[in-house]
Amino acid sequence: MELNTLLPSIIADNALHAKWLNTLSLMENTGARKISASEDPLTVTYIILKHAAEEHRHAFYLKKQIEKTGPAACATYAPEFLLAPGYSKYYLNQLDIQVSRYLKQALKLSGKDLRFAAYLLVTYAIEVRADELYPVYQQALDDAGSKVNVKSIILEEEGHLEEMISQLKQFSPQWAQHAQIAVDYETRLFNDWVNALAGEMIPA
Ligand SMILES: [Fe+2]
Ligand SMILES: [Fe+2]
Repeated sequence: MELNTLLPSIIADNALHAKWLNTLSLMENTGARKISASEDPLTVTYIILKHAAEEHRHAFYLKKQIEKTGPAACATYAPEFLLAPGYSKYYLNQLDIQVSRYLKQALKLSGKDLRFAAYLLVTYAIEVRADELYPVYQQALDDAGSKVNVKSIILEEEGHLEEMISQLKQFSPQWAQHAQIAVDYETRLFNDWVNALAGEMIPA
């Protein structure tokens, strides 16, 4: 199942669309909190602060877009307000676990160095995904004539991918090889997530 085949049915149904926006908001918030949690209080940089601030804004902005889908509000991230709640919550944590395990085994990293390297690789993989997902979603919104729009997120996500690449280049000359491993883990988790979304949409 491909996401672009699911999106028109999600957007066409206001209740589903509200939950979809809330689910993206949850995932942005999870990412934002992970970046903040991995910050070193002493050596945190301009780029990391900017990135955390923008991911927190994405979570808020998506939550605010829910108003445009009608009266169906999604007050919190409780499971009844989400699509595929289990997979949506599991995705980022699982990616973090898999990437951290790889870094421990392949590069023998631990402590602070492990936290920073995991931030770099996990965030890189997510930015690659974001740069694919949001334009596909925006196209589906345009096709449906929806009032919801995510153009400001697309602009910022493009900047994030460039920033992650420049940080990765400083981290290791073999950065591309490590990054590909993170992308492979992410692809499997993302496909599971999309299948879980599709499963929820089959009418009971
Ligand atoms: Fe984001
Ligand atoms: Fe981002």
